[in-house]
Amino acid sequence: MTKLWGGRFQKSAEQWVDEFGASISFDQTLVIEDLDGSIAHVKMLGDCKILPSADVELILSGLEQLKISAAENKLEFSIANEDIHLNLEKMLIDLIGPVGGKLHTGRSRNDQVATDMHLFLKNRVGEVIELIELFQKTLVAQAEEHVETLAPGYTHLQRAQPISFAHHLMAYFWMLERDKDRFKDSIKRIDISPLGAGALAGTTFPIDRKLSAEYLGFANVYANSMDAVSDRDFIVEFLSNSSMLMAHLSRFAEEIILWSSSEFNFIELDDSFSTGSSIMPQKKNPDMAELIRGKTGRVYGNLMGLLTVIKGLPLAYNKDMQEDKEGMFDTVHTIVGSLKIFEGMVRTMDVHKERLHDTVHKDFSNATELADYLAAKGLPFREAHEVTGKLVFLCIQREYFLLDLPLEDLQEANSLIESDIYDVLSPLAAVRRRNSLGGTGFDQVKIQIAEAKTLL
Ligand code: ARG
Repeated sequence: MTKLWGGRFQKSAEQWVDEFGASISFDQTLVIEDLDGSIAHVKMLGDCKILPSADVELILSGLEQLKISAAENKLEFSIANEDIHLNLEKMLIDLIGPVGGKLHTGRSRNDQVATDMHLFLKNRVGEVIELIELFQKTLVAQAEEHVETLAPGYTHLQRAQPISFAHHLMAYFWMLERDKDRFKDSIKRIDISPLGAGALAGTTFPIDRKLSAEYLGFANVYANSMDAVSDRDFIVEFLSNSSMLMAHLSRFAEEIILWSSSEFNFIELDDSFSTGSSIMPQKKNPDMAELIRGKTGRVYGNLMGLLTVIKGLPLAYNKDMQEDKEGMFDTVHTIVGSLKIFEGMVRTMDVHKERLHDTVHKDFSNATELADYLAAKGLPFREAHEVTGKLVFLCIQREYFLLDLPLEDLQEANSLIESDIYDVLSPLAAVRRRNSLGGTGFDQVKIQIAEAKTLL
C-alpha cells in the first residue's frame, strides 16, 4: 500500500518494520479528538480563505460521516497507515476524493497529535474531578453516620488514642480534596491549543490559531510553536497527580483490608465488592481493595516511564513521544476504575460499631488521659508519664485495664488522683475532650464535616 508520505521513497518497509513503528493499535482511542481537531482546523482554513468554501463543506461532511462511523465502531484501521492521523486522512480521501488531501494544509501531525492529547486529557480530567467529588460525598455521608462511633487510633500500628471513626474517614476526604485541587489546577496547563504550530516552526499560510483554538474550546494558545509540539509536561503532571491520588487510595485500601480481617473485624465489605476462594469455602476476600493497592504500581510506573522518555529529548518533535500514549490511557482507565470501585466499596461497607466500641474499652489507649490529668493538676508531664507507665505495667501484670484499677492503687501511685479519674479515663470522654481545632472531639468533627460540605 502506498504511504501518504511515500513520494520521497524508492521502496517500502517490510510489514514487521511498519508494525514496530505503528501506533494505531492504541492511538485509535483518540479517534473523536482527532476528528474534532480536523473539523476545527478546516473550518479555520475556510474562514481565513485558505481553502474555498466548497472544499471546506465537502471535507466537513466527510469528517462528520467519519465521526458517525467512529461512534458506531465501524471504522477499520490499518497498520499500513501507521497512526490515527494518517488512517483518518486516508479514509477521508477514500470517502470524498482527492479534495480530502487539502485538509492537511498548514498543519502537521506534530501539532495534530499534541492537539488530540490536550483535548483528550481535558475531558478526562473533568471526569476524574467529578468522580473524586462523588467519592468525597460518600465519605461525608459515612462520616456523618459515625461521628460518635469510637474507634482506636493508631501510630506504628499500635493502639494510640481513641478517636471518632468519622475523624478517620474524614482524613481521606482531605487527601482527596488536595487531589481534586491538583487536577483542577492542572487544567490551565492542559487547556492550551498547539494547533497551527505546524511541524515545529509555524506555517506560511495565513492561519488563525486563536480561531481554531476557539472552535475547540481551548482557553489559550501556545506562544511558541516549538514548545507547542514538544511539550508533554501536561501529561507528566497528569500522571503525577494520578500517582498522588493512587498513593492515597492505596493507603485507604490497606486499611480496608486490615479492618476487614478477622483480627481487626472493624468492618465487613458488601458481598458485591468481595470475592470468594476456589478452595476455601469460608473465604471472603477484599480483592477490590487489594487490586487498587496493586494498581498503584502501574500508575507510578507510567509516571516514571514518561519522565524517562522526555528526558534529554532535543527539540522539537521526536518519535519517542509516541510513547506518551499507552501510559496515559492506562492511567485514565486505572484511576477512573479505582475511584468508582472505592466509592461503591465505602458506600456499602458495614461498620461494626459494637466491635469498635469494645476495642477501645479493652486497651490502654486512654493512658494519655491519666498522664494529662496529673499534668493538669500540676505534676510535671514527664513525671505524670512515668507514673502512668508504671500503672499500665501493673495492669498488664494483673491482666486488666486502667479503668479496672481500684482507687487505692491509683492513689498509692500518686496522691493527686481522685475518684473523678474514672470519668476522665472513659474513652468517650477522652474523645469528646479533644476539642482543639481539627481534633477528634465530636464537636470538632462536626465542624469539619460542615466545612467539607461547603466544598462539595
Ligand atoms: N503517531 C505519532 C505520535 O503519536 C504522531 C506524530 C508523528 N509525527 C511524525 N513526524 N512522525 O507521536
